[in-house]
Amino acid sequence: MSFVSVSDFEKQAMVELEQNALDYYRSGAWEELTLGYNREAFKRLRLRPRCLRNVAQLETSCSIWGEHFKWPLGIAPVAMQRMAHPDGEKGTARAAGRAGCPFILSTLSNTPLEEVAAAAPETCKWFQLYIYKDRALTESLVRRAERADFKALVLTVDAPIFAQRRADVRNKFCLPAHLSLGNFQGAQSNVASSTGDSGLSEYVASQFDSTVTWQDIKWLKQLTQLPIVLKGILTAEDAELAREFGCAGIIVSNHGGRQLDSTPATIEALPEVVRAVGTNLIVMLDGGIREGNDIFKALALGAQMVFIGRPAIWALACDGQRGVEHLLTLLRNDFDITMALTGCPTLADIQSSMVVPESTYCPIK
Ligand SMILES: Cc1cc2nc3c(=O)[nH]c(=O)nc-3n(C[C@H](O)[C@H](O)[C@H](O)COP(=O)(O)O)c2cc1C
Repeated sequence: MSFVSVSDFEKQAMVELEQNALDYYRSGAWEELTLGYNREAFKRLRLRPRCLRNVAQLETSCSIWGEHFKWPLGIAPVAMQRMAHPDGEKGTARAAGRAGCPFILSTLSNTPLEEVAAAAPETCKWFQLYIYKDRALTESLVRRAERADFKALVLTVDAPIFAQRRADVRNKFCLPAHLSLGNFQGAQSNVASSTGDSGLSEYVASQFDSTVTWQDIKWLKQLTQLPIVLKGILTAEDAELAREFGCAGIIVSNHGGRQLDSTPATIEALPEVVRAVGTNLIVMLDGGIREGNDIFKALALGAQMVFIGRPAIWALACDGQRGVEHLLTLLRNDFDITMALTGCPTLADIQSSMVVPESTYCPIK
């Protein structure tokens, strides 16, 4: 099959993956309303292109906290990637580096963070953190990430407990016997279902600290010099608190529609967050990015970097690291073409006036 879009990879991944893994990667919370909104909201935005602006040379590079990237797309943290392909997190991380993109490794990876670091030394890697009830264990994750040269800590703040993902409950989701959570030993390394619920929900309920508050950001900040990014911010109020508590960045995210259902699409939430803190914090976004023009829309509305979650997994399932490299090449080409056709030779040329809601044009009189 020749893959020319994210949806080509998605269709083939449906064939490649067995049910337990496919449902885990695909699903959203409850009715999956937010999962749908993330896509629909991008489709409701219209581009207003400018013409005659010399787009022969495009400049898409950018930098964050001194790290340089070839373009403003990265790979979001997605847990348990070796269910998709034996290349797993190592393959995804290497592919990101080749494409000049940052890679965020999940706490819940199948591959230990040190092995991912050794496999992808050229890639700029950030570590996604969940705060465990066992704070000494949490601290040891931070220390290990520092030692392995991860460049930022991405604290996920939208998952004090896990929402219900119905497919995982039906499947009594658990990790295949040959896989574990690579960053842990013993009880924390195993995702199994003992009560007939999703094994992951059981794991999170028993291990994650749901008492976490803004005061714990202070705790994390005194532990580490790494920039702290809060992932899962959807409101101006929380964005302002992130700034007050000294965070370096935020990712506007609804966890790919997997946590609280009925929250807005991330591209809908982005403008209020940018209005609140846009110039004081690095504002990034994930959720529903599937096309080069989605990247453009998010940048126009104020994001400095965007991330993909599921698309990387579909590509990994189809052809391991090579699949992810191919996917990133496709998205890069589509983004470049979008820049040229909107009259934007550089990222600084992308203006908010170039993206408007569909209601601007409807009804046509
Ligand atoms: C299968 C799967 C596992 C995920 N695991 C994590 C995780 O371990 N930590 C985290 O912060 N976010 C996790 N996420 C959320 C992603 O980081 C990201 O927010 C989301 O996938 C973006 O939406 P998209 O899939 O539409 O691109 C996961 C998402 C999926 C689909």
